[in-house]
Amino acid sequence: MPTHILAIESSCDETAASVCVDGAILSNEVATQEVHANFGGVVPELASRSHLQHIVPVVEQALRKANISLYAIDAIAYTQSPGLIGSLLVGGQFAKSLALSLDKPLIAVHHMQAHVLANLIEHPTLSFPFLCLTVSGGHTQLVKCESATKMEVIGETIDDAAGEAFDKTAKLLGLPYPGGPLIDEYAKSGKANRFVFPEPQIADLNFSFSGLKTSILYFLQNAGKSHAYHPELIASAQEQQTFIQENLEDLCASVQQRIVSILLHKLKKAVAVTGIKQIALAGGVAANSGLRKGIEEMAQKYQYQYYIPSLRYCTDNAAMIAITGYHKFLAKQFAPLDIRSSAKATW
Ligand code: KG4
Ligand code: ZN
Repeated sequence: MPTHILAIESSCDETAASVCVDGAILSNEVATQEVHANFGGVVPELASRSHLQHIVPVVEQALRKANISLYAIDAIAYTQSPGLIGSLLVGGQFAKSLALSLDKPLIAVHHMQAHVLANLIEHPTLSFPFLCLTVSGGHTQLVKCESATKMEVIGETIDDAAGEAFDKTAKLLGLPYPGGPLIDEYAKSGKANRFVFPEPQIADLNFSFSGLKTSILYFLQNAGKSHAYHPELIASAQEQQTFIQENLEDLCASVQQRIVSILLHKLKKAVAVTGIKQIALAGGVAANSGLRKGIEEMAQKYQYQYYIPSLRYCTDNAAMIAITGYHKFLAKQFAPLDIRSSAKATW
């Protein structure tokens, strides 16, 4: 008998549901919350309320697209951690209620592990072990993936996430939230070697982006005269604005190049440390065209095998929860109904 999993993702500002059969995705529905656009970031309370409005229609739509009845579902998978607690609770309570009323097992999924396993959706034969660079708005991690249920974080950011570095830079440049995709767009017509931003010297396989953010701030404040803080160099608001307007594409291309080089440098180091030459990307920042091109070039140069999920499986989605749920189902890793949602990212 084939195994059908219904999966629910509600960790941040996307209400998503998916159905998979034996690991093949039948539907992948996402309702993106528009309500945050005016606030420059996700407002947690508004996110929770929006999940409440969207969750029933999104789940119904996922079942309809998969052409499957709720009663044919074998287990309910949902994002249990990490994320915004109010958002997690909506999806969690909904999943538990369904599991209880249908008398089907509940599967608790870790959002970051699901991002990694999104790579299995289009590459079901991807063999273990592989290394995954997971880059999102909240996380930047290097994960050693030994099996679908055994993963280890071998490096992570000690401050900002890569997505935050993109979004905060965009904010400094006066671009709306989330600015990552806009930086990517402007960078396409900019000169990446025009401005050189510093690469942080961080030990091991960890990352840091807060120094880069500060150097960009100072650079813009003094209209490109220095990366360091010199009060006497600070330009007028008008001069700063003009500098940004006249150099927007080059600024975006230069910042993007630096963020990508920081990420790929550590990925290369992780290959050297672990000896694992199969590499994968995951998370929303994996949509970045500079990063995608960079990993492709690196893989060709050093003869790594590389994998990148399609864009719809990089940004937050429920198909990644479904594939993870399927593997946990095979491993009989079920959760009790009194399990709590957790905002923290403990592995
Ligand atoms: O994984 P995700 O959808 O949500 C989180 O779990 O955080 O990632 C969202 C992040 C945001 O910071 C957004 O700016 C960034 O991914 N992002 C991009 C691009 N598309 C999304 N950053 C750079 N270039 C892109 N094309
Ligand atoms: Zn995510």
